[in-house]
Amino acid sequence: AHVDKGGHKHFMAKEINEQPTVIAEAIRCYLPTGSNSVTLEGVDLDFRNVERLTMVACGTAYYACLTAKYWFEQLAGLPVEVDVASEFRYREPPMPAKSMALFVSQSGETADTLAALRYCTGKVDGILSVVNAAESSIARESDIALPIHAGVEIGVASTKAFTCQLTVLLILALKAASDRGTMDEAQIADHVAALRGLPSALNTALEQSEAIRRAALRLSEARDVLFLGRGIMYPLAMEGALKLKEISYIHAEGYPAGELKHGPIALIDKNMPVVFMTPTDALFDKTMSNMQEVMARKGKVLMISDAAGLSAGGNDLWNSIAMPEIHASLTPILYALPAQLLAYHTAVAKGTDVDQPRNLAKSVTVE
Ligand code: G6P
Repeated sequence: AHVDKGGHKHFMAKEINEQPTVIAEAIRCYLPTGSNSVTLEGVDLDFRNVERLTMVACGTAYYACLTAKYWFEQLAGLPVEVDVASEFRYREPPMPAKSMALFVSQSGETADTLAALRYCTGKVDGILSVVNAAESSIARESDIALPIHAGVEIGVASTKAFTCQLTVLLILALKAASDRGTMDEAQIADHVAALRGLPSALNTALEQSEAIRRAALRLSEARDVLFLGRGIMYPLAMEGALKLKEISYIHAEGYPAGELKHGPIALIDKNMPVVFMTPTDALFDKTMSNMQEVMARKGKVLMISDAAGLSAGGNDLWNSIAMPEIHASLTPILYALPAQLLAYHTAVAKGTDVDQPRNLAKSVTVE
């Protein structure tokens, strides 16, 4: 089907703006209206006897896996191993009994991810995939392929596929929690209700686009940018750095905030922007003390947080981006939007080719 930019300057902008709609669609498909439980009707999947989940992917899909590790472990008590496909396949890892493997891929054709899937075939109790292209090789070769319903994604830097992957992975983790009895019905219902409210929170986040554009104008002057987060926001810090380097060509690194002292703090000076992904979650105070460490060295802090977080951030912030308050498990999905918009507006300010960044391909089907 022919896909146009729908009035946007770039496919990436269109795809960022589509997220409330496509995520609502993914939620509707997996959690039919009226139901408070996560049964995944018609999907023959049971996590009761699974003792380990191995997740493998490349690029942005890999960061979706790293995020999902927190959900599967914290909500479902299921140990998870995550690896990038090009390492996993050549490492020849032993696959213990009672393990399942899960492959995440937008295209469903990434050569390394497909090879990793083939490596697991016959060695595990089930091969799952979370894909955008439902007719792809990875989908075909899985026991169960779960579509993310993101629609065609054209921008090389993945945006809506990432948040749809996260949405489906969270629903899968809730299914695991329900199978394994680690959450009761009321707790599951609480998460389901929060998920149903997600599209409207995403719309609120998109309203920050102009404020993010102004922050991006300043960010576009930087040579290097550090992204920090803790807990479930750590993988998103890496995804934010990946988005920025992919399309603006500014060197960026994502780091767990608690590791600041073990290296990156050496880079902090008055020229170094540091983006903090900091909802007011259980680790907020710890992240705040890392922020103080950056400010004490004159680093330029760009804080992304909710109203309570930003007020705790004080008046010395270089820049801030306000997010609505949201259920703790949904923060990586919501905060993906300012991360994407920051990269997008920075690239536009620099005049790079946003949809077709140099040297990158949408789908890497050769090694
Ligand atoms: C390429 C794309 C990325 C994508 C990665 C994995 O590097 O540029 O946006 O995340 O491949 O692709 P997949 O189709 O397997 O998700």
